[in-house]
Amino acid sequence: MENAKNELLCRVGPGAPMGDLLRRYWMPIGGASELDDNPVKAVRLFGEDLVLFKDLSGNYGLLDRHCPHRRADLSYGFVEKEGIRCNYHGWLIDHKGGCVEQPFEDTFNPKSPLRKKCTSPAYPVKELAGLLWAYMGPDPAPELPVWDPFTWKNGFVEVAIAHIPCNWFQCQENSIDPVHFEWMHDNWGKRQRGEMDYSPKHKKLGFEEFDYGFTYKRIREGATEDDPLWTIGRVTLWPNGFYLGSHFEWRVPIDDENTLSVCWFFTRVPIEQEPYIQNRIPTWTGPIKDSNGRWISSHIINQDIIAWVGQGAIADRTKELLGSSDRGIAMIRNKFFEDMQAVQEGRDPKGIIRDPEVAKKVLLPIATPKQQRDGMVKKDWMADPYFSRRSTGFPWLYGQPDEVWNEYANAMGIDPGRRDPRETAVV
Ligand code: FES
Ligand SMILES: [Fe+2]
Repeated sequence: MENAKNELLCRVGPGAPMGDLLRRYWMPIGGASELDDNPVKAVRLFGEDLVLFKDLSGNYGLLDRHCPHRRADLSYGFVEKEGIRCNYHGWLIDHKGGCVEQPFEDTFNPKSPLRKKCTSPAYPVKELAGLLWAYMGPDPAPELPVWDPFTWKNGFVEVAIAHIPCNWFQCQENSIDPVHFEWMHDNWGKRQRGEMDYSPKHKKLGFEEFDYGFTYKRIREGATEDDPLWTIGRVTLWPNGFYLGSHFEWRVPIDDENTLSVCWFFTRVPIEQEPYIQNRIPTWTGPIKDSNGRWISSHIINQDIIAWVGQGAIADRTKELLGSSDRGIAMIRNKFFEDMQAVQEGRDPKGIIRDPEVAKKVLLPIATPKQQRDGMVKKDWMADPYFSRRSTGFPWLYGQPDEVWNEYANAMGIDPGRRDPRETAVV
């Protein structure tokens, strides 16, 4: 690939074609419960330093980090009923970026036009499924899609976050890379456990486009063409998501060289545990390096992260050598080039939903609906390969806090003491 094309795929700051494209979509920027203890958070998205907050009326705001007065850091401000108040001279900015109070000016010179002149860049934020979503593109904003799993009942949901020091696109290419699963997760996982055999090889791959992304399909040794991983497959969710039936992963650009990994997990409780109603969806952030400064490699997403950061802060695609396993990667790159063109020409890119009726519930291909969506009795749940692994820990990302595990175990009706010691090992 020419360097100019690589730059197009990777650069996400304001005005960069990919930045303009991604800003057309609502982006998950964290968990709503993150603001429970401290309602103000410094965030950086698409190369912009911002402050996220929830005011005392319950409105979410996402504003320029710098106060419009003399540019103090609003992430040290404090929330009130009508917005966030700067800690320097007390100006109060609401969630839409309007200035509500300028205490000294209001006293000394109440007719001053200064108030009208004072606005802060502000982006809308919505809460859905325990996640906070921001829209940083031009008006009118599209609908925020309610993906079908967000409507499922009787599940334990958690949001797990990691900060990844590399470009977003190499993370997203991993969402359409079926063969890595055999090597990075299965075989490398075996070696880490001291097992010397190899897992079943991939024999055949398929890639297809649909309205909201692409699917990839696989047949491995021992499987037939009736396997749902061939007939239905997994979902590369447009533009920066990955959906595997029980969970979503999004790769949200912080800037050109950093990515916020936001993952949403649903675990269906055994049918005997119904009805299960979750009061609060927890959010936690996992560390990705151990105490020796090496990347943590014990959990699935941690293994993926090692691939992503290993490709460099921005992967140099002028030096890569694509094989037939990379057909899906070529497909999404081409689609991104088409989509960047569409945005430059004023058209909507792929997957944008403008009809509220459509956005209310958007179905996605799911290979294992019984396991993930419909539920199983406890006996089958414990015997199921996926759930039996979920009965001893959280294999996806290192660092699940004890309280989240305990809450999860209670929801599932399993003994919290079943937890694998590797889950809590200090690394
Ligand atoms: S800098 Fe924020 S009120 Fe003065
Ligand atoms: Fe992976």
